[in-house]
Amino acid sequence: MFHEPVETFAARLRLSPGSSWVAEAGGQVLGYFFTHPWAGETPPPLGRALQQLPANQDTHFLHDLAVHPQARGRGVAPRLVEAALDWGRQRGLKFTRLVAVAGAAPFWRKWGFKPVATAPAYGDDAALMALPVESQRITTSQTAA
Ligand SMILES: CC(C)(COP(=O)(O)OP(=O)(O)OC[C@H]1O[C@@H](n2cnc3c(N)ncnc32)[C@H](O)[C@@H]1OP(=O)(O)O)[C@@H](O)C(=O)NCCC(=O)NCCS
Repeated sequence: MFHEPVETFAARLRLSPGSSWVAEAGGQVLGYFFTHPWAGETPPPLGRALQQLPANQDTHFLHDLAVHPQARGRGVAPRLVEAALDWGRQRGLKFTRLVAVAGAAPFWRKWGFKPVATAPAYGDDAALMALPVESQRITTSQTAA
């Protein structure tokens, strides 16, 4: 698991304010999901604040999903993932990509993501994963079933 500087997240929020989500209940944050448009297969630099987003955006890059340990197992993550995938589809982005770290690949496989390359800049066991293009139009409930 990585701990990135707060400016990394703040920059992504500034550049794409509509593509990140927080789950909360009773004023408590249960989880978050940061995503943003991107271009191509090379993932954004890890731990560095982006100065701008690429012009030729074709990718919805899923940057960081986390649910508080005490809130896990209650379906928080699926709701965050569904919100994000809906956003990417509505935005018309052709590809959905992420880097799975710290053993997260099995979680993303459940959503239909497939490993397509290693991602050494993110760690020895990091894998670039992508949603097959033909899955982009399938609803998330069908994908998760
Ligand atoms: C992974 C994580 C976001 C899941 O959050 P959650 O709200 O507890 O998710 P849920 O328990 O509701 O799980 C949803 C589904 O994913 C499955 N799942 C959860 N974690 C999983 C994992 N590590 N590997 C495989 N499947 C997993 C659950 O079994 C469940 O499947 P089901 O719908 O068939 O029952 C959470 O455990 C977490 O924050 N982990 C640390 C950070 C991380 O790994 N983030 C993801 C990679 S960036």
